[in-house]
Amino acid sequence: AKDPVRVLVTGAAGQIGYALVPMIARGVMLGPDQPVILHMLDIPPAAEALNGVKMELIDAAFPLLKGVVATTDVSEACAGVNVAVMVGGFPRKEGMERKDVMSKNVSIYRSQASALEKHAAPNCKVLVVANPANTNALILKEFAPSIPECNITCLTRLDHNRALGQISERLDVQVCDVKNVIIWGNHSSTQYPDVTHSTVTTKDGEKAVPGLVNDDEWMKGGFIKTVQQRGAAIIKARKLSSALSAASSACDHIRDWVIGTPEGIWVSMGVYSDGSYNVPPGLIYSFPVTCKDGKWSIVQGLSIDEFSRKKMDATAIELADEKALAYSCLN
Ligand code: NAI
Repeated sequence: AKDPVRVLVTGAAGQIGYALVPMIARGVMLGPDQPVILHMLDIPPAAEALNGVKMELIDAAFPLLKGVVATTDVSEACAGVNVAVMVGGFPRKEGMERKDVMSKNVSIYRSQASALEKHAAPNCKVLVVANPANTNALILKEFAPSIPECNITCLTRLDHNRALGQISERLDVQVCDVKNVIIWGNHSSTQYPDVTHSTVTTKDGEKAVPGLVNDDEWMKGGFIKTVQQRGAAIIKARKLSSALSAASSACDHIRDWVIGTPEGIWVSMGVYSDGSYNVPPGLIYSFPVTCKDGKWSIVQGLSIDEFSRKKMDATAIELADEKALAYSCLN
């Protein structure tokens, strides 16, 4: 039998946490033959609720779940973890300035970075979910210099999956037959969902999505807007933000990273830019990636038209601006 993998979930008493921990305990994230030990962190006001989640995990009697640590102590939470899913953060409340929210999250991610650096297992893989996800991940990277930068990522897989879902609805095909959409940039409303290179598997072979859709106005307008604004649409409908889809996408992100992407398929991940596609280095930016042997690599050589270039630059500018704001909070 395999040794258990220790998986940290911060903000585990929250909405996404509640959807995510049972998925991890069932093997959705790391596979049906991989035992796990869950480390759940939250803050003292949520300690009692966190303990309730621990009780339910015990009650569910998951065969793969070999242990549960539920704590409000960051060092204890990070001890020996192989995978860290950072869902905890400070939410933007009505009337709050952008800078105030950024400042709270910068201080959270700075201190959690140090705890991971000190206590996590070597080669720990980190996924930041909490918003502003890209910039929180960047702060985490800056304050955990001994964690390789390729191990620090943020979640844009939910946006990627939303784009697959929209194409599948529009073309009335199964979502598993749609592939290779791309989310470029920030996990925010400036993200660029790009279908230029995506295809659908049909009984007559692989077909390009732009040809099948055959509606440039929709692809450059309604489609992009729907994906960008989907989070807001969920809040409007549910009076709560996306949780099950966010949790499921976080599992997809880690699973593909650890186990590898299927042949011929790429996915979107927020990763540290190396300058590919002329995206400024030094930002955590969402790119199309393939994964193999526990490592991601950015898909190279895709053609970028003028429309795409503008959208990719606009979201990079927003990220540079967020980065500057985050740094101004450090002083
Ligand atoms: P939530 O408010 O239900 O849960 C957040 C939890 O984090 C709470 O239990 C809170 O006590 C905890 N927390 C706050 N500060 C913490 C700290 N310093 N350490 C540990 N835990 C802390 O929020 P929800 O709905 O679960 O969302 C979590 C985050 O995920 C939000 O920032 C949200 O904006 C973001 N999100 C990101 C998505 C993505 O695609 N990247 C999609 C959906 C949500």
